[in-house]
Amino acid sequence: YKDRVIAPSLLAADFSRIREEVTRAIRAGADWMHLDVMDGHFVDNISFGPAVVLAVHESNDIFLDVHLMISRPDHYLDRFLAAGSDMITVHAEADHDVAETLGRIRAAGCKAGLAINPATPIEDAEPFLDKIDLLLCMTVVPGFGGQAFMDEVLPKIEAAAKLREDRGLEFHIEVDGGIDHKTASRCAQAGANVMVAGSSTFGAPDMAQAITAIRQA
Ligand code: DX5
Ligand code: ZN
Repeated sequence: YKDRVIAPSLLAADFSRIREEVTRAIRAGADWMHLDVMDGHFVDNISFGPAVVLAVHESNDIFLDVHLMISRPDHYLDRFLAAGSDMITVHAEADHDVAETLGRIRAAGCKAGLAINPATPIEDAEPFLDKIDLLLCMTVVPGFGGQAFMDEVLPKIEAAAKLREDRGLEFHIEVDGGIDHKTASRCAQAGANVMVAGSSTFGAPDMAQAITAIRQA
């Protein structure tokens, strides 16, 4: 949780060439691939489901960081586990027993993440901090790539890092939305180490340079 991790978001890739796009990200220095699953209900957009996660899993070896923006993560969980996810992150705001879902993820040998939206206070995540491998502090309202980073989330990242320290825990703190080398630097200062970046990586003229810039920021 102390090492910087760069996780390009597949949402910003060319969906007609997913395998090539993931390979391009790996060659450019990506540590993890971030896969945004959206159900058109929890968020106002539909992306892809377990079949695409499986296709990525079978085509490359990179660590798959699966972000479930879906209303019933408990209902679909087994399918995302079977698809080869390495980390599954579920939202605190979704309609499920959060502790139970996190427990099921870990019991399956997968890493468990908990996500909170910009408007959700850290208090809502507090009861689960000893049950997670990663806390995702959304830095945009989820649903779409290419949105502007929300500064107001920075104090929450600082609070999460302080709670982690106070309790002797070791979960990663991930940020997602509007991340480029400038905002990554501010997030890292606040205590985040996993940087999800879509537009600023896949959309860059030189992806390797964009990833290096976020890593060194
Ligand atoms: C937002 C998604 C993000 C998104 C980030 O709903 O969870 O992962 O792809 O995209 P950028 O980096 O373009 O803001
Ligand atoms: Zn995401």
